Amino acid sequence: MGSLVKPHAVCIPFPAQGHINPMLKLAKILHSKGFHITFVNTEFNHQRLLKSQGSATLSRHPSFKFETIPDGLPPPENLDATQDIPSLCKSTSETSLEPFKKLLFKLNNTSTTPPVSCIVSDGVMSFTLDAADELGIPEVLFWTTSACGFLAYVHYSTLREKGFIPLKDSADLTNGYLDTVVECIPSMKGTRLKDMPTFLRTTDPDDIMVNFVIRETTRAKRASAIILNTFEDLEHDVLKELSSIYPRVYSIGPLHTLENNLKNKDLELLGSSLWKEEAECLEWLDSKESNSVVYVNFGSIAVMTPQQLVEFSWGLANSNQTFLWVIRPDLVSGDSPMLPPEFLAATSGRGLLASWCPQEKVLNHPSIGGFLTHSGWNSTLESISSGVPMICWPFFAEQQTNCWYSCNQWGIGMEIDSAVDRRQVEKLVNILMDEEKGKHMKKMAGVWKEKVESTSSWLNIDNLINEVLLRS
Ligand code: UDX
Repeated sequence: MGSLVKPHAVCIPFPAQGHINPMLKLAKILHSKGFHITFVNTEFNHQRLLKSQGSATLSRHPSFKFETIPDGLPPPENLDATQDIPSLCKSTSETSLEPFKKLLFKLNNTSTTPPVSCIVSDGVMSFTLDAADELGIPEVLFWTTSACGFLAYVHYSTLREKGFIPLKDSADLTNGYLDTVVECIPSMKGTRLKDMPTFLRTTDPDDIMVNFVIRETTRAKRASAIILNTFEDLEHDVLKELSSIYPRVYSIGPLHTLENNLKNKDLELLGSSLWKEEAECLEWLDSKESNSVVYVNFGSIAVMTPQQLVEFSWGLANSNQTFLWVIRPDLVSGDSPMLPPEFLAATSGRGLLASWCPQEKVLNHPSIGGFLTHSGWNSTLESISSGVPMICWPFFAEQQTNCWYSCNQWGIGMEIDSAVDRRQVEKLVNILMDEEKGKHMKKMAGVWKEKVESTSSWLNIDNLINEVLLRS
């Protein structure tokens, strides 16, 4: 790095699982490139991480440190504060700047720590730009979405100007209006309103999330660079379009595959799961034939009704396929997930249930033949890099956009109706695992997997470091 003082990157993710995971991977990569790292979690998530990872793992490395700031929410009682996205967006944007500045001041006045030289902040934590400006240091904004999801967010302002947001009437949610094709977003031809991030499904002209999205995507223009966890081959057109809006855009993914090439054993042990992983499911997968298991997981935030859970279970049971189904304890809204006893009896021996799993390893396991997913961006990217085709049940945010691209552009997904019907689940699962269409999707997923292996993202990370992060 040239000088004796290490560069010091402060990495601050939005406080939800799907944001912490890619940020931690990026932080490890920057560490491997010689950066001192301060990783900033909310106090609430840090406590969860201490429980799931163990305090020794978090404090093992002298140049990779964890710090905390409050999330600004009242004590969560039994509620998982990482799941209430609108409240978190509101509280972090309104209350986190001051504690963040205090933390930077503390770091800059600690003799054992090099001065903070750059900030890598989540894209939806743009309040951090004010702190970077005050210190006169570069800041990059990390949008942890797909590039297509980010571009759709960027065009929320266009959709508002054109009168699509807010909806005129709540009946527009169900009367087919969301099938309207969106013509005004360059490079996203063919997408409909229903493929846009879901926050536009509101009749409120002052909707918190719509205002938040427009504010964050506008403020992003002040960043030294925008980084995205994607790769050039996958989202070339959208990345090009984004580069015409923001001066510097770097695609640096898939970060989990880049992370796997790192050599530092101490940091290898450092994970970011907020739930305790049930690693036993890997042994169970070992006992299954290649490409024979459907993996079902709806990520960290999606919730469903008790009836939807029942429809998914009977769809899986009636498909007669072998499956690994991860059911978070809070997957069913307002209740603990209750599976019909007849379902458990009908699938005994060919179905394994778990509450949280080491997903990257699961998706990479040769027994996995397909993935029934909520189309979160991390899950989609992990599936693509493992060559696993998907059935998509997008829940919220830009998952709808990821689903549309998976099904219509990348040839690796089939969408399932949001209402969920057991017959459709059964049919799609069987197509995915046994039929020609499923085989074709598997082949396409394999093509993308190969492209991941030859991605230019390492080079882009080096460019990001030299052109932006080390700029004084
Ligand atoms: C949400 C959005 O869906 C996503 O698109 C957005 O960018 C961030 O917020 P989430 O519901 O958390 O994310 O889904 P996803 O983006 O797929 O992230 C989930 C992460 O948790 C993945 O990295 C996955 O590997 C991990 N995970 C999930 C596990 O390790 N074990 C599990 O059992 C389930």
